[in-house]
Amino acid sequence: MFMIFNAYETLYYLFQFLIFMENPKNLIFVIFGASGDLASRMLIPAIFSLKTQKILPEKFAILGIGRTKISNEDFRKKMSDAIVSYSEEKVTDQNLISGFTKDLYYHSMDSISADGYLELKSRLQDIDTKYSIGGNYIFHMATPPSMYEAISVNLAKSGLTNQADGFRRLIIEKPFGYDLESGRKLNKTLHELISEDQIFRIDHYLGKETVQNLLVTRFANGMFEPLWNRNYIHRIEITSAESMGVGERGGYYDTSGALRDMVQNHLLQMVGLTAMEPPSSLDADAIRNEVLKVFQSLQPIREEDVPSQVIRGQYTGSLIRGECVTGYRYEKGVAPDSRTETYVAIKFFINNWRWGGVPFYMRTGKRLPTRVTEIVIHFKQTPHHLFQRESGKVSANQLIIRIQPDEGILLKFDMKEPGAGFNVKNVNMDFHYKDLADIRVPSAYERLLHDVMLGDSTLFSRDDEVETAWKFLEPIQAAWANNKAIKVFGYPAGTWGPEHANDLIEGEGLTWRYPCKNLADEELYCEL
Ligand code: BG6
Repeated sequence: MFMIFNAYETLYYLFQFLIFMENPKNLIFVIFGASGDLASRMLIPAIFSLKTQKILPEKFAILGIGRTKISNEDFRKKMSDAIVSYSEEKVTDQNLISGFTKDLYYHSMDSISADGYLELKSRLQDIDTKYSIGGNYIFHMATPPSMYEAISVNLAKSGLTNQADGFRRLIIEKPFGYDLESGRKLNKTLHELISEDQIFRIDHYLGKETVQNLLVTRFANGMFEPLWNRNYIHRIEITSAESMGVGERGGYYDTSGALRDMVQNHLLQMVGLTAMEPPSSLDADAIRNEVLKVFQSLQPIREEDVPSQVIRGQYTGSLIRGECVTGYRYEKGVAPDSRTETYVAIKFFINNWRWGGVPFYMRTGKRLPTRVTEIVIHFKQTPHHLFQRESGKVSANQLIIRIQPDEGILLKFDMKEPGAGFNVKNVNMDFHYKDLADIRVPSAYERLLHDVMLGDSTLFSRDDEVETAWKFLEPIQAAWANNKAIKVFGYPAGTWGPEHANDLIEGEGLTWRYPCKNLADEELYCEL
């Protein structure tokens, strides 16, 4: 084990070195929706952090775009406050902040209407000339998805996506469409305007260190990969649990639900990296081709099988540690009779040589007892049980890849209890990422925005991946839309979702892994 983690460490340093050694070419970073939450909470603090690490381009400026009419100075002040409030590390040095915000500009316009784009172009040219940028622009759409098409069309028509004078890249936030049809339509529109290598579809899970580490765990360690298949693995479980509710995002979430919000992107990407074949290189397309093959091998869930393979739920009000927690239907922006799922659990198979017959399970939900994302590899039991277990139950090895929090890897295996006889105890071998000396783990947005600046699309979803993911979910969406008899199970906030989700797990007495206990006092539902 010692050897493995040393290898880890070496690879990690190498990876960091390779990724972060480069400074991108000079550029202007344009944010549509600059007065919104995403810009303040994620984008600006992430770019500021790149500045403090000295890995921004030598000549760099940000142009924020929004409808609100504010001056450059007001925008700088707002973003300076955002850096203080939302940076991962505490920032107190005002000089450092103002050294960054001096290169921030603001432009007020209605980005839906084509009218303002010539003015935008000349504003960009002014900044470009002032900084001697050389025509490289990145446009980040931090707007509601309904604006993506109009902005892309307007940018293209005004010549701003034309790469004759420098690179022009577009960053798009999820959701990439609402279903297969709209996902295809969005891709088609974008492709009519620009080429695929100009498009960067952000799935922030791919920017998480531990998600990328899955590749290293699997393909840098001789001991895991030979076991990584149907001969040794009994089942695989992927969980992304959140303890928070929908908060202020009820309006958006009620039109989305867990399937679109989490499964179509984050969970399926984790499935892809867990199940893929080794890529021929670390090239963006080599990796994405393998992920795509996994998506293409997902056994379609037939509409009639949806009730037995997919469980959906919605949190109800409950009492957690003495406090009443609001039920989903009472959240701001949510319809009082909403049937939107805040929880979904799916059993599925991957029809290929490696995984034929191995059940995969994935679940995600809001208002569960804790925030945890993990991938659990359940190995098969030994063929003959020689020893007594302390619990009386036969156990099997588990490899738990903790994506967040407390990033790391836990291996559960059996050891002899000291003393007479052969009593066996299940023990943990636990590696915590934080033990890798004083390395700072970059936030997902830092990593991803830096990659866009470098033009590296490895950690971004490609058009065909997005569409294939939608295709897999299509029958589930259709069944829920067409068959009102399919239940939306209520679950008290603070619990692990509907108990019916355990019925999905094949094998007597087997359940999902529960990293911690329910928090809700199930005897005491609130009135909410
Ligand atoms: C976002 C979803 O993409 O991911 C949110 O829209 C969710 O609903 C979030 O809360 C979870 O991200 P993380 O990084 O906190 O696991």
